[in-house]
Amino acid sequence: MLRTVKITRYVTPLREGGSLPAIAEADDLGTYVLKFRGAGQGKKALIAEIVAGEIARALGFAVPEIVLADLDPEMARAEPDPEIQDLIRASGGLNLAIDYLPGALGFDPLANPPDPLLASRILWFDAYVANVDRSVHNTNLLEWHGRLWLIDHGASLYFHHTWRGLEAAIHRPYVATRDHVLLPFAEAIPKADKEMATRISPSMLRGVLDLIPEEWIRDEPGFDGAGEVREAYLRYLLGRLEEPRGWVRALEEAHEQAL
Ligand SMILES: Nc1ncnc2c1ncn2[C@@H]1O[C@H](COP(=O)(O)OP(=O)(O)OP(=O)(O)O)[C@@H](O)[C@H]1O
Ligand SMILES: [Mg+2]
Repeated sequence: MLRTVKITRYVTPLREGGSLPAIAEADDLGTYVLKFRGAGQGKKALIAEIVAGEIARALGFAVPEIVLADLDPEMARAEPDPEIQDLIRASGGLNLAIDYLPGALGFDPLANPPDPLLASRILWFDAYVANVDRSVHNTNLLEWHGRLWLIDHGASLYFHHTWRGLEAAIHRPYVATRDHVLLPFAEAIPKADKEMATRISPSMLRGVLDLIPEEWIRDEPGFDGAGEVREAYLRYLLGRLEEPRGWVRALEEAHEQAL
């Protein structure tokens, strides 16, 4: 189970975030990056944050803690900005919050070249969950306390916006390969592939999928309840591991061409 906190204060918007995330405080005295259910991509982006973020954690990557965040829509009254008022009003109830890493720096691959195996693992992971948001311009990687932290997985698993493309998505090469910030550094893709694929199991994936709040998936059109939706995610996540993994081979080829 993810912890649930209650938001006590909206501190400030994170203007660089496309979905208007905010820094907020909660009743556990923690400071979080709050992602609103009422923002652009809605609850699907929050589901992607949970599923991809928690798979990343289970694979051993550094990921800030992800919690559910209860938001009182009446907090909108205290905000002067009408856009933020609307966002808070549209997001009453359950939202997502990510532990704020104070003083974290944006990752700069030129100043601080990453370890080739770590780069390969992250590239493999992003290709596995189809995360299209890890480019040179927007790395969504933070350097903090000597480690590289993975954030912002809301643009993963994008087949869930329509579901019709699920079967095609399972075998599709990673669409964001050429833009991926770590492609030139990923010199150990076959090793990363072996490691990562052996660490992922049906029970690990089921444990992660059980973290999605029931109320975000129980009324999904085309499905008969939350259980079926969880099974659909599992179908993708297990199907993508089936051999031969053409999408991994495509990563290797793209890496060779990028040199
Ligand atoms: N846990 C965190 N700790 C510290 N800073 C963070 C954290 N999460 C996000 N940030 C900062 O806030 C910015 C926006 O967050 P995030 O990328 O998650 O939002 P987003 O709306 O999905 O952004 P975009 O779509 O523009 O990439 C990040 O680029 C980073 O600078
Ligand atoms: Mg981002």
